[in-house]
Amino acid sequence: MNHAGMLARVKKRKRPVEAGAQDQVEVKFKEVTLYLVERKMGSSRRNFLTSLARSKGFRVEDVLSDDITHVVAEDNQAEVLWAWLMGHGLRDVSRLAVLDISWFTDSMREGRPVRVETRHRIQVREPVVSVSVYCSPPTAVANVSQYACQRRTTTENHNKIFTDVMEELAESSEFNESKGPCLAFRQAASVLKSLPSAVQCLEAIQGLPCLGEHTKAVMEEILTFGRSFKVEELRCDERYQALKLFTSVFGVGPKTAEKWYRRGLRSLKEILTEPSIQLNRMQRAGFLYYSDISKAVSKAEAEALGCIIEETVHWIAPDAILALTGGFRRGKEYGHDVDFLLTMPEMGKEEGLLLHVIDRLRDQGILLYCEYQGSTFDVSKLPSCRFEDMDHFQKCFLILRLEQGQVEGERGQQRDPGDSRGWRAVRVDLVAPPVDRYAFALLGWTGSRQFGRDLRAFAQKERQMLLDNHALYDKTKQLFLPVTTEEDIFAHLGLEYVEPWQRNA
Ligand code: UTP
Ligand code: MG
Repeated sequence: MNHAGMLARVKKRKRPVEAGAQDQVEVKFKEVTLYLVERKMGSSRRNFLTSLARSKGFRVEDVLSDDITHVVAEDNQAEVLWAWLMGHGLRDVSRLAVLDISWFTDSMREGRPVRVETRHRIQVREPVVSVSVYCSPPTAVANVSQYACQRRTTTENHNKIFTDVMEELAESSEFNESKGPCLAFRQAASVLKSLPSAVQCLEAIQGLPCLGEHTKAVMEEILTFGRSFKVEELRCDERYQALKLFTSVFGVGPKTAEKWYRRGLRSLKEILTEPSIQLNRMQRAGFLYYSDISKAVSKAEAEALGCIIEETVHWIAPDAILALTGGFRRGKEYGHDVDFLLTMPEMGKEEGLLLHVIDRLRDQGILLYCEYQGSTFDVSKLPSCRFEDMDHFQKCFLILRLEQGQVEGERGQQRDPGDSRGWRAVRVDLVAPPVDRYAFALLGWTGSRQFGRDLRAFAQKERQMLLDNHALYDKTKQLFLPVTTEEDIFAHLGLEYVEPWQRNA
């Protein structure tokens, strides 16, 4: 079609709307502004209905805007319609009456807008529309810091409905190497985790730090529908699902997962049966113990492992210092592994300690896998500005065999009907810093990852100091600060001490 022909067609299609505008009698119902959705309805029927409504004194707008009070659609699937509405950047979709054509025909028959009844509404299953309309007064947010190290975050998360979604979006951004959005979703989740109650309306989060437009849009969706369409899309996204599955294997990072995905592999079985794939030792162990180590470790199991590690370490060195770190030190009920820190009171005596511990675990017949990394600690290279870097202490990543009978509450019980094995494999990390670095290592390995990230950011931006798992350096005074406890580190930074169980940022 040539340009003139196209214009003619556009004009022809528009004529009935213009005719409708001419039919506008004086607006009788000022509190109602209609918008008719053309999708499925078709343009000519929409034009006809527009004219009809205007002739009866209804205001009908051609364009969807914040002025609209009632949206009317015909034969539209609720999810599709709402997703379409959400994409319009309206200020507050929750105040819209989104109605089926039956409300419109009832209103035309009566010659006035009839009362909206439930049967008129186009709703997605389990809507929670009311929460965004009726919400408690805004949470007091004035004191919420942008830094997790100035917030207290227990394991009690009142906003899991939002934070689970944010964490999934962060993970998806990570797979796409979108660092900015990934960090933004993680920070937003972290702020929401620290709130003392559940967010029930958007007004309640006004003034909170780290919640950008994107995050707020996701929250609005959740407040309105009880779910996020974006995350639902992700659940059907083949790449995201495959990368998530592959990276759930011990030893498989995003790069390897992407490589496998690009080769057309989609399931763990396909990876294992593809002859050209060479798994490294860690990945082989990851696959071998997959069903066990992909299952969460309980607090009781972590405590049982604590007893085993303590016995083993003290059998070798009675004066060794041992601490449980990671999520379990923060009071979590479940974790993906169990982390321990060990050292000797005398400097240098920690050298070789881990290798002895590993030997002893092997002798006990409970060492299923071990990856040992010797120390690469070099005082002259400290402290590092790069947080993501692993620290330089000697450490080992283990898979240990834990007997069911050693776990409190599980003695004499069968974990799983049909599972008569009586033991499970558990991932355990042991880290052995020299004693003069113990407090830094303890703070770093206790986490959470976001807490540590913000602690370092705070040190650098607010105090001109550099912090990592090995040291704290004052750039202004050009010296390393003396530290023996975690409390000393907070004090040097001019921060109130935050207990481990308040670091679940
Ligand atoms: P984890 O990955 O074990 O996390 O690392 P977690 O908080 O215990 O959570 P789950 O329950 O196991 O999933 C423990 C902490 O150790 C730090 C991380 O920042 C994390 O907070 N860490 C990890 C380091 O400081 N350096 C490392 O090289 C690795
Ligand atoms: Mg852990």
